[in-house]
Parts: sequence; structure tokens; C-alpha cells
Amino acid sequence: MTGLDDLTRPPGRPPRLLYGADWNPEQWPEDTWTEDLRLMRRAGVTTVTLGVFSWARLEPEPGAREFGWLDRLMDLARDHGIGVVLATPTASPPPWLGRLHPETLPRDEDGRTEWWGSRQHFSHSSEAYRRHAAAITEDLAARYARHPALVMWHINNEYCTYDWGDEAARTFRTWLQDRYGTLDALNTAWGGDFWSQRYADWDEVLPPRRAHYLRNPAHVLDFRRYTSDMLLDCYRAERDIVRAHTPHLPVTTNLMPFWSGQDGWAWAAEQDLVSVDVYPDPAAPRAGAHENAFLADLTRAEAGGRPWMVMEQAAGAVNWRPVNRPKPEGLNRLRTLQAVARGADAVHFFQWRASRQGAEKFHSGMLGHSGPRGRGFRESVRVGADLARLGPRVAGSRLPAGGVAVLHDWDSWWAQRHEGALSDRLDQGELVRTWHRALWEAGLPTTLAHPHHDLTAHPLVVVPHLYLLDDTALDNLRRYAAGGGRLVCGFFTGVADPDDRIRPGGMDARLRALLGIDRVDEWWPLETGDRVDCGAFHGTLWSEELVPAPGAEILATYRGGELDGRPAVLRHGPTRYLSTLPEPAALRALLAEAAAEAGVRPVLAGLPDGVEAVRRGGLLFLLHHGREPVSVTVPGRHRDLLTGATVDSALTLDRFGAAVLEEQP
Ligand code: GLA
Repeated sequence: MTGLDDLTRPPGRPPRLLYGADWNPEQWPEDTWTEDLRLMRRAGVTTVTLGVFSWARLEPEPGAREFGWLDRLMDLARDHGIGVVLATPTASPPPWLGRLHPETLPRDEDGRTEWWGSRQHFSHSSEAYRRHAAAITEDLAARYARHPALVMWHINNEYCTYDWGDEAARTFRTWLQDRYGTLDALNTAWGGDFWSQRYADWDEVLPPRRAHYLRNPAHVLDFRRYTSDMLLDCYRAERDIVRAHTPHLPVTTNLMPFWSGQDGWAWAAEQDLVSVDVYPDPAAPRAGAHENAFLADLTRAEAGGRPWMVMEQAAGAVNWRPVNRPKPEGLNRLRTLQAVARGADAVHFFQWRASRQGAEKFHSGMLGHSGPRGRGFRESVRVGADLARLGPRVAGSRLPAGGVAVLHDWDSWWAQRHEGALSDRLDQGELVRTWHRALWEAGLPTTLAHPHHDLTAHPLVVVPHLYLLDDTALDNLRRYAAGGGRLVCGFFTGVADPDDRIRPGGMDARLRALLGIDRVDEWWPLETGDRVDCGAFHGTLWSEELVPAPGAEILATYRGGELDGRPAVLRHGPTRYLSTLPEPAALRALLAEAAAEAGVRPVLAGLPDGVEAVRRGGLLFLLHHGREPVSVTVPGRHRDLLTGATVDSALTLDRFGAAVLEEQP
């Protein structure tokens, strides 16, 4: 078993897309349970996630076990033909754990304790936490390993805790000893001679706690690497326990959407299927459409192109924005179909039935407070019917390989976001989103990639901003371009090595040779709202005092101001270098031109504004993110799998409408 394949192809039955939600029936009287299951059947639900926050129920006091309620639920799910994604309950320890073992509670950088009373109040470094988490995981896995309803494991939930406490100080030192071996090597890597920071004893090394002034960036960078690794270690420990009982079942943990704390590439490599939580703001449908597409492309890339899972999205409103709007009619369906178009084989929601109590009582569910007659539930039924229709043709299929690859790496993101930076407006994550959005708006097939990945399948690779690049990445980019690949590289890239030491010349010499840059004399960050005239477009956020190398062609020049007459955009062989961030339309045009040169075409030419086209498994998905009806021209004859209608060269998409077209002979 290596993922969703066996779940989406039940023996003797046609392939299916999984559809379901977190189900928290322990919050409800038992007489609602069968009603829930009956309504799930009506909505076409295939699978539910049970037990995410159930530790205090399962283990009401240390060492006790209360499995009866879960036994009944597992049996009921089996009787109704619903599969169970069983969660280990370790994201929210019971209050007794904190009371008996205060060291399980994390501390922030000011030394303040994060108490129980909410959730995720555990230290990744606490031996007591890990011991208790392993024990409940072991018993849960042993009890349900052979239960016919069990189809998948869900470990913990959104691993996201930092810890600056004493337990963390201990494991941080061990992590550093593994990385550096000796204190001398650590002092060298961290530049210990700056501000007298040389350590004489390992016990002096602490997590980067509150300090008088700027902290050592290499120290902070290693703390971020360490935190991602420690949380991953917690995941692995539980994964290995459940795997030993059920080697045939996939194991996952739900990643937070493009969260800076988890190295998504490293985490994905440890999962049988990659799952992610997706919550674009329904108040801004167009921006949300891009966010959904971006997260889908990232998750699919993390999954190595294989089908992936939306572990959570909201059927309507969330309850954690300052103002929480519901999804307007049709948007839930559109977002679900968009995730499927971009490679998801499973779409789950948080949560099945909206809670009446607790911090999330205003969060939507597939079954909202208005009940089975409410709009939300009716839409859940409609979405389920659509997925059931698509499953046999879509499940297990992939998107075409190739297209444009956008490079992203957490290591660089962590290093770049430092308090002593040249500009606190610069954020790699935001730049990656911005460049991806330009490609998405240009209708180009796009994915993400790590700078170490084999890039040869991509005729065009773009680097929005990678401040830190190691030698492997730099050599990879050089080889890629030498082999005929085309590269568009954004500013302030290749500046630092893996110890966050500035490369000689301020930019790696190999990269300068590749991009046709003799040197960067000065970096000139811009204020928010500032625009710098580059002739055909305006630049924002950043600019550079560049000296081109012989052979570089100047495509755009700064006009006015200190950089008047200096190059803004260079072309050198198969590469382009952007020393500023062009405004959105200009960035879109520039990337579209580079794509055209590289032979990457939009998925479908001539689309009306707001319509997205995606090809998956030989089907053409058309997704309309606007409210006014539009007419779309599609050459040839097709059948719309959602309606069964024949489409002869054109169709109309209504507000938030979608079509899934199969070519007809
Ligand atoms: C996260 C969590 C869920 C729930 C939702 C609410 O994704 O994993 O338990 O709190 O947020 O949006």
C-alpha cells in the first residue's frame, strides 16, 4: 500500500473519489449517531475521520482505557458502509497530563507556559508527552487494526507547536550535536566571533529566547530547522506504531496550508499520502480561487505528482478570521471540483456536523445548525453526487507532467525571514504566491519544485526568490540551463550559503555567471506603495544596483531616482533576471512571454476572465470563479461528465459553474 490507490479502487467496484469529514460524535448524544450516518449516506459520504481530539475520552485518567464508545462508532460506520480514517488523539492531551507533568507544556520565547484549556499544548521534546502519546497510539492501533471500517490513519492534527522551554533546550543541543559534531564546528557555523557569542560549553546553548537586541540569524535558522524536525519526529514515532499493526493501510497527517513552520518537502516524504487543510477566505472568491489552486499545486508536487487529499476545508464559514463570511451558494462545489481538477482524489471537510459547544460552535459543517433542510446540507448532497459521478473516470489519474516549475524551499524561507533583514516587507512565501498567481492568471500549467529536484521535465523553471541556495541547488540550476532549460530568476537569490553566511560578492559566483551579472553593487529595497519606473512597467518591493556581465542583454532599465539608467531586467542565454517585482500585469506578461519561448502553452487559449482550465487524466475541467454567466469556446465535441450533456464547440458556465469535459469521437 502506498497511498490512496487501494481506497479509491475498492475490489470489484469502480474507482471512486473519497468524500467526507472530521466526525466528532463524542460531542453529541448517541441517538444522533445513526441519524448522522443516514445523512452521510444521503450526501454520498465515503469516509469519516474519527477521534482527532478524543484523548480525554479514551484515557479519562492516566492508564485507563475507554474504548466502548469508539467500538460502537466503528461498528456503526461499518454497518453503514462508511470507511474510517482513524486519528491518533495526541494533538490535545487531557488536562491530567499537564497537571501531572507540567514539563509537557510548551514555553514561548518569553518563558510563558502554554496551558491546557485550548489544544496543541504539548512540547515535541517532552519525554512524558511522547511516552503517553505512544501508549495510547499503541492501544488504539492494536484494538482497531483488524476492524473492517478502518481504511487509513491520521496522525495527530496540524503539528504546529514551537517550544523554547528547558526540555526543548535539551533536545536542541542533541540536534545540534548531530548536525555539527563539535562545539567548534557550531561556533564556526554560527559565526560565534560576532558579538562575543562563542560557546564554551554545550549547556550554554539555548533555544533563541527573548534577548536584548537582534538574535543570531544562524541560531534562529537552526531552531526553525530543528522545530520542523522535532515535530516530524513525533509524527514518525506514531506512524511507526500504527504501521506495525496495519502495514497495508496508508498513514497521513494533515499539513497546515503553506505554513512556514513545517518543511513540506521533508514531511511529505514521510507520508503514504499527502494531505492538507485548505481555507481560502470566501469573502474574496477570486483570491480564494488562486489560493486553492496554489495549495493544490504545492500539495501535488509534495506528493510527487500522485493523487493527494484535502483533509479539511470548510463547507461555509470558519470562525477564526476577524469577520467570518459563509460560502456563497455554489462556491463549496466549485472549490471541491477545483481541488479534484488539480489532482485530489479525496476531499474531506472540517467538520461533519457543526458543534453546539466549544470554541468552534460558529464554524460551519457539512451539516450546519440549520439541519438537513438547510442550504449547506443540500449543497453537501450535491457535491457528493458530483464526486460520485466523476470518481470512475477521475480517481487515480494524474495531471500531465511538465509545465512551469516554481521553486520553493523552506530552508531559504526561514533564513530570509530574519529580524536583521534589509526589508521586513520581503517574504519568500508571499513572493512564491505572487509569481504562482501570475502563472495561474496566464492559464499556464504549473507546479512547484524543490531546488534539488530533477527539473529536466520542465521547459521553464522560475525562482521567485531563494535567498539561501546550497551548492547542490546551484549546480542543479546550472546543469538544468546547460541542458536546454529556461530559467527566470527573481532578485536577491543565491545570496547566502546553508549557514546563512553571505556568499562572496553578495551572490553566488556560479549564479552570477549563469544570469549574466558581474556584480550587485547595492540592494535597494522599496517602501510599501513605492513604485520604480522601469520603462514598460513599474517595479515594487525591491530594486538593485546591478552591473551586468559582458554578453548580458538589458531588457528593462530603471528610470529616474538613484538607479536611473541601471539595468532592471537582464537576459543572458536561456535565463532572465528580474531585480525588482513587476506589478501584477507586467509580471504576468513577462512570465507568459518566457513560457511561450519555452514552448509552454496555456491549457486552453481564449478563456474569458475568471475561467480556469485544467487537464487531468484526459479530461478538461472548466471552472468559473465569477458570478456573471460566461460563454467558453472549446474546440471539438465533448460530453460534460457532470450533466451528461453534449458540448459542441461552446458552453455557458453560470455563476461559480463548472464542467468536466470528455472528448467525444
Ligand atoms: C484546523 C483544525 C481543525 C479545525 C479547523 C477550523 O484546520 O485542524 O481541527 O480547528 O482548523 O477551521
